[in-house]
Amino acid sequence: MDAELNDALAELRDLLLDGERLVSASAGGRRKGQEAPEPTRIRPVTVKGRELLQLETADAAGRPIVRNVEATAVEELLARPYANWHVVTTDATVAVRITKKGKAFVHRTAEGGERVTSHDRVKSHLLAPDDPLFAAVGADAAKRRQVDRFLTLVDGKLGTDGAPLHVVDFGCGNAYLTFAAYKYLSGVRELDVTVTGVEIREEQRVHNNAVAEKLGYAAGMHFVADTAAEADLPGADIVLALHACDTATDEAIARGVRLKAAHIFAAPCCHHDIAEQLKGAEAPGPYGALVADGILRERFADTLTDALRALLLRSLGYEVEVSEFIASQHTPRNSMIWARPARTPAALRTAARVEYDTLVEQWGVRPKLAELLETA
Ligand SMILES: C[S@@+](CC[C@H](N)C(=O)[O-])C[C@H]1O[C@@H](n2cnc3c(N)ncnc32)[C@H](O)[C@@H]1O
Repeated sequence: MDAELNDALAELRDLLLDGERLVSASAGGRRKGQEAPEPTRIRPVTVKGRELLQLETADAAGRPIVRNVEATAVEELLARPYANWHVVTTDATVAVRITKKGKAFVHRTAEGGERVTSHDRVKSHLLAPDDPLFAAVGADAAKRRQVDRFLTLVDGKLGTDGAPLHVVDFGCGNAYLTFAAYKYLSGVRELDVTVTGVEIREEQRVHNNAVAEKLGYAAGMHFVADTAAEADLPGADIVLALHACDTATDEAIARGVRLKAAHIFAAPCCHHDIAEQLKGAEAPGPYGALVADGILRERFADTLTDALRALLLRSLGYEVEVSEFIASQHTPRNSMIWARPARTPAALRTAARVEYDTLVEQWGVRPKLAELLETA
């Protein structure tokens, strides 16, 4: 093993076993050629007088799984091929990044955190709700939580090869996610990242660029006023869209496909387009009850729209997951479509297309995403 990596792991071991100073830690990403270990957050807890470590992982739907373990579990954690470690102690923060060549880079700052060891689970965050960034951009508690959960999902999917990344956030509005993504990816993960926010409203562009300037981020991020469909972009490695209105989500996904983005993360907003098309249309028998009442039609339209988006992407060979990125009490618009180009066998692509064609024919709908992809 590389001597620097050995030293870095020894430093991490000392910090994780420091029963007086450890505040929290997180480990994620995977080293080149290794299987991805599950992203894990760690914090010290005292249970019935015993000092333990609380490990938090997530199930397939992103729901937290928490277990308390003895400190000896640190050895097993350090043996996993994580590419990134981030440890906060009472007086310092240490980030370790392991490159694809197996070299370890250690970044230390003198910024510490507050130790909480009560058994009650404290919510862990990539960016804490009291991070000064949120105050600077003016995000309320609900948005802070959405942004943090959204970024957590991004964090778990991103590779760690350290290549420069261009992230585009479509329909960025006040750019809470855009700024948080830049701060987290460049500051915490130390990636070479540039971020573009695309927003149809010119006044938002002016406002967001001014905030970027004020925060000292202007060298790494900028905003353009245009539609997601037409914004002039040099490319995109990562596409984000958090509640981009109605078919703006389709525009973002289609741009992601056209720009050959490595990842598309879209948490859709309202789905008026298909809901309108279902109104008054004849439902295929015996499914009339699904669309007879307004609220059921709306919910069914949500489901049908996202199912058709997923099928279209799968028919293009994408690996797709549709999941819940945050609990519904924080926002009813809590689904997330994640997609990345994959080497899907032709038979599966064809099967997805057949299923798509059958659904649109039976329900008599014309999804916006298909139109955008066909003109792509
Ligand atoms: C519900 S807001 C969400 C804003 C932000 N992503 C957030 O989560 O706070 C949707 C934003 O998308 C913008 N928008 C609507 N249609 C768009 C389009 N076709 N292209 C780009 N932005 C669009 C709206 O102006 C609005 O700011």
